[in-house]
Amino acid sequence: MKAVIPAAGLATRFLPATKVVPKELLPVVDRPVLQYIVEEAAQAGIDDVLLITGRGKTAMVDHFDRRPDLETRLAEKPELLAAVRRPEQLAQIYTCRQPEQLGLGHAVGYAGTHVGDQPFAVMLGDEFVSLSEPLLPAMLDLQARTGGIVLAFAEVPLEETKRYGIASVAPADRSLADLGEVVEVTGLVEKPKPEDAPSNLAVLGRYVLPSAIFEAIGRTGKGSGGEIQLTDAMGLLLKEGMPVHAIVYRGTRYDTGMPLGYLQTVVQLACEREDLGAEFRQWLGEFVASDAGRRT
Ligand code: G1P
Repeated sequence: MKAVIPAAGLATRFLPATKVVPKELLPVVDRPVLQYIVEEAAQAGIDDVLLITGRGKTAMVDHFDRRPDLETRLAEKPELLAAVRRPEQLAQIYTCRQPEQLGLGHAVGYAGTHVGDQPFAVMLGDEFVSLSEPLLPAMLDLQARTGGIVLAFAEVPLEETKRYGIASVAPADRSLADLGEVVEVTGLVEKPKPEDAPSNLAVLGRYVLPSAIFEAIGRTGKGSGGEIQLTDAMGLLLKEGMPVHAIVYRGTRYDTGMPLGYLQTVVQLACEREDLGAEFRQWLGEFVASDAGRRT
């Protein structure tokens, strides 16, 4: 199984930090966001990862390369040495350029040659789930059973529907219930206003797609925001009879795509760290209770 990580975006929400540093390399404690995503892929048994990159983002690939010069200097520090080697051991990383950023569907379209005719996973480069509550393994199982498109949903407040692909759903066949809270998808719409949203079930940044998606992307015109949307390409296949299912995910997910979500992710993962979590939690509690922490 291969995974595709579209990561060519400009990350305007994080400027000026992302003028030079790709947003996928912003650190969450001491690892870049992208490493958490590749860790999630590796945990699900995916060892072939295609990064769809763009101008100025090659440092992402360097992160998964060896650094013999650094490794030599860390010979006496086995823990740091292991941490430096870890990214390279997670997966085989391949890259491909998206020369213009014309939408998520457009980006995924570039993966066709690398992926071939097998189903594959798409993992968006700014969100990940807790490794203790994995999502991808059940999605891969579900795809193997249905042969169709498999998505993951989170329930979101209605006022947030305009940030996501939103689905209408029906109960799924009972034989799929062992894989979690599985629903059958009957419709998909990209970023609807709350009054137009068919539900509050939002598409998360994890997809398992059959290779038929590439031909469908080729037939997809510009949609929401003037971009070629993956949601619209999946909608075409759905209308043509392809089974589309989703798992409603109720575990912990981290969304680093916006400054607030990024900060929440850093704080949550720092609190969980064995080495500095206890000290950080204590400081955080004191800070929040202090005058500076309560200032509005
Ligand atoms: C993309 C998809 C959207 C999905 C979202 C999840 O939007 O187009 O359907 O719900 O990711 O994060 P973006 O966040 O790239 O605007």
